[in-house]
Amino acid sequence: RDTTVVAIDGPAGSGKSSVSKQVARRLGYGYLDTGAAYRALAWHALGHGADTSDASSVLDATGDFDFAISLDPDHYWVRVGGTDVTDAIREPRVTDAVSGVARVPAVRHTVNTLFRALITGSGLPGVVVEGRDITTVVAPDAPVRILLTAAPAVRAARRSAELTGHDSVTVAEALHRRDASDSTVVDFLSAAPGVVVVDSSDLDFEQTVGAVLDVIHTVV
Ligand code: C5P
Repeated sequence: RDTTVVAIDGPAGSGKSSVSKQVARRLGYGYLDTGAAYRALAWHALGHGADTSDASSVLDATGDFDFAISLDPDHYWVRVGGTDVTDAIREPRVTDAVSGVARVPAVRHTVNTLFRALITGSGLPGVVVEGRDITTVVAPDAPVRILLTAAPAVRAARRSAELTGHDSVTVAEALHRRDASDSTVVDFLSAAPGVVVVDSSDLDFEQTVGAVLDVIHTVV
């Protein structure tokens, strides 16, 4: 039987990752964090001394990129060349570099091929796939496609609550800068035709999970 794909896109701070993970647990599905691949590649490129604002420098570093990710929402890990980078890819230096890596078309093509292979080869009944271009590019034919949004101020507040010890103005500015850069590459701030919008601005975590499950249950 084919693996059912639940495609979820949205900006940083929309609650996308934690909500997608929880939805996957509830359904007994896998969870694929596509942003982690871009982050892992940024980490790898930085380790090679690449200039992540330069496409050819990024491409040079992708040659020996050996990426592995867990699809188990209860045992999430990310590895590059066998090294566990689960925490390292969340460091600010990686977050600051990731947009530059993600804007290289050949990089997007390579990781998208990887994502489709991970989904097809998973052997799971379903996978919740989370990112920026899942509903439009990676899995446009998915039976469930959701755009998870939240008001900018709400997203900034959530992100600074996650990153304790960081100045909230700096966090909001960095978030805004990354969204602005990312949205020149893929439009994840508006829903493509057929994509259901779930706005989590006025919802808590459990309510957001419930809203996403409601959308899924209308189809699957
Ligand atoms: O979701 P997360 O914040 O971890 O994503 C990190 C970065 O990866 C984003 O800022 C974006 O540049 C890139 N990304 C992307 N397409 C995706 C997922 C992430 O370009 N599907």
